[in-house]
Amino acid sequence: MTDTRDQIYKAYVDFVNPGLARLLKIARADTVEVSASGSIITDDSGKEYIDCAGGYGVFSLGHRHPEVVSAVKDQLDRMPLASKLFLNKPMADLSALLAKITPGALQYSFFVNSGAEAVENAIKLARLTTGKTRVISTHGAFHGKTFGALSASGRDVFREPFKPLVPSFDHVPFGDLDALSEAITDDTAALIIEPIQAEGGVILPPVGYLAGTRRLCDENNILLIADEIQTGLGRTGKLFAVEHEKVVPDIMTLAKALGGGVMPIGAVIGQARTWEKWKRDPLLITSTFGGNPLACAAAIAAVTVLTRDELWKRAHKLGEATKVKLKKIAKRFPRIIQDVRGSGLLIGVELKNEGLGGVIIPEMVRNGVAAGYTLNMPRVIRIEPPLVIEEDLLDQAMGVFEKAVEEAERLFDKLF
Ligand SMILES: Cc1ncc(COP(=O)(O)O)c(C=O)c1O
Repeated sequence: MTDTRDQIYKAYVDFVNPGLARLLKIARADTVEVSASGSIITDDSGKEYIDCAGGYGVFSLGHRHPEVVSAVKDQLDRMPLASKLFLNKPMADLSALLAKITPGALQYSFFVNSGAEAVENAIKLARLTTGKTRVISTHGAFHGKTFGALSASGRDVFREPFKPLVPSFDHVPFGDLDALSEAITDDTAALIIEPIQAEGGVILPPVGYLAGTRRLCDENNILLIADEIQTGLGRTGKLFAVEHEKVVPDIMTLAKALGGGVMPIGAVIGQARTWEKWKRDPLLITSTFGGNPLACAAAIAAVTVLTRDELWKRAHKLGEATKVKLKKIAKRFPRIIQDVRGSGLLIGVELKNEGLGGVIIPEMVRNGVAAGYTLNMPRVIRIEPPLVIEEDLLDQAMGVFEKAVEEAERLFDKLF
């Protein structure tokens, strides 16, 4: 067993992945996290970090939210995993709760253990429902890294080594309704789309795009799958990001924040028509651990807190104020920052080039702010803290970010 930080690092090198160990070292993230509470992560030396990445959307309620922890402890003492032979109350309650809070006629839920699994099953349901095979997705999209989800995703670096992927996926530019319209064929089952591309670099579509996708799907009788795995549950300033344009998808995927930052859980929620064929053969899609009582208890508590405290309003307010601050910093450092954009507390700071992130992120970490870039566009630093973050902590984190940008400016002529 490992005791010291060095031993843990060596175990990463020897038994996990030496490349990952190196990557963490370069980012000055080769420290060992040992505990977390609210918006603070603490390492093995007692150093504290303000969590500005928020687990890429997982920690919307912060770390170890007391109400979620209490619900999970209570369930743990009774029945953590389902026998799968009898009715499961937490799963039934969570399904009913999601039917209530999701837009329009979204009704039935199926639970899994991650975002990618939710996407897999959404795609399967679309094929099952329509009897068609093709799925349209967008360039730059991130839907996960299992085969189906990867086939829908839009970054070649992640796709190329694993080809051939699942056939019958067509990619169109995000935000372009004409391209979407042209890509639709008689065999198109569904469009899968993130209402705002998160890992793609926090890309907001033009106003009217989402509503336009709904219209095109209706006109062509294809299903609209909204991947709200990262944007859902308050992150972008609405409870769901499709609500920015009052769009009701046929299928929605959730994960990340759904587990309240305590348990992993993913969900596929569909309108009645998408469950029509499945309900005739309910064992067509199953999951051993999906819908386990422990994860469902966490999700019920998370959704209850989120809706009771209307945290999307907080996300909107803090997000707008943070963007103003970041735009001021961008104005001061035009050689470093290209753009600041986002919605709610999903904010992207696009740098002039990818290398700058290699200076700014480690500098932020050194000064006590945990930060990261977006997976499909590494020159975008994400500001994605818990929705419950205290204003002074967020201010502090922005101060650290500004100092890190100053450092990048100081080194600019030497490095770039
Ligand atoms: C929009 C979106 N979909 C799917 C996924 C995949 O989720 P997971 O990593 O839990 O498989 C992610 C993860 O970042 C995501 O942001």
